[in-house]
Amino acid sequence: MSERTPEPRHIAVNGVRLAYDDVGKGPAILFIHGFMFDRTMWRGQVVGLEGWRRIAPDLRGMGLSEAAEDGYSMNVYADDLAALLDALDIGRTVLCGLSMGAYVAFEFLRRHRRHVAGLIVLDARTEADSAERKASRNDMIARVRNGDASGLADELASKFLAEGSPAGVRRRLGQMMERPSATGIIEALEAMRDRADSTPLLQSIVDLPTLLLIGTDDTRTPRASMQAMADEIPEATFNLVSNAGHLPPLENPEETTAGILRFLNQLGAVGL
Ligand code: MLT
Repeated sequence: MSERTPEPRHIAVNGVRLAYDDVGKGPAILFIHGFMFDRTMWRGQVVGLEGWRRIAPDLRGMGLSEAAEDGYSMNVYADDLAALLDALDIGRTVLCGLSMGAYVAFEFLRRHRRHVAGLIVLDARTEADSAERKASRNDMIARVRNGDASGLADELASKFLAEGSPAGVRRRLGQMMERPSATGIIEALEAMRDRADSTPLLQSIVDLPTLLLIGTDDTRTPRASMQAMADEIPEATFNLVSNAGHLPPLENPEETTAGILRFLNQLGAVGL
């Protein structure tokens, strides 16, 4: 598999200029990255999933996308993506979100269900933030306001990866987490802090083909939260990705891509 990164494209939708990858032809899959990451975390999947149209945007305020001054929330992130799909003339897609990207996917499902043909959730929980997590988000916001975005990035990065992950993976993660502006980071923290509980959503998507993946060494996402999701959606496939922490697409791209491809092939067989 070639590791060449596609040249990003740019488009103005929903009042903001987004950077995105758009690679390949076929039924569409939309990749949604997590907090302080960007579309490049999906490089292994964007390069590897031939036979599918792979769309990977940077959320507003992250990566190379514009950091609008205000107007951020899970609703707005989801509406940005729906507007992107409309602009690209994509009717239906598989949604694939990791962590905060999955929070956006849940909101997308609430608001734009007609666009969704399948769901892939990696390393995420449906529950809203507890009081303790909200307080921790507020501490992080204060740190970034005080100019310590890079200290926060270093601290989080050390918690995201499985122990012993290769230097190349650490370097790529560090580079990604340096990109977002203070505005993008603060607004994302507020959006996560204020997001709705998505647990009730699960009952409304039991008929949606769903794949759940989590890194064996993820210390950020309680495995019990993903098991609870699997229990709520009996038809869902729930798999572990070995040698990976919170970022299986980056840490073990081969196994992640293979798992996604198996799921997509089944979907393709039923005519997405
Ligand atoms: C992420 O990876 O997007 C974050 O860990 C999500 C969170 O902090 O809830």
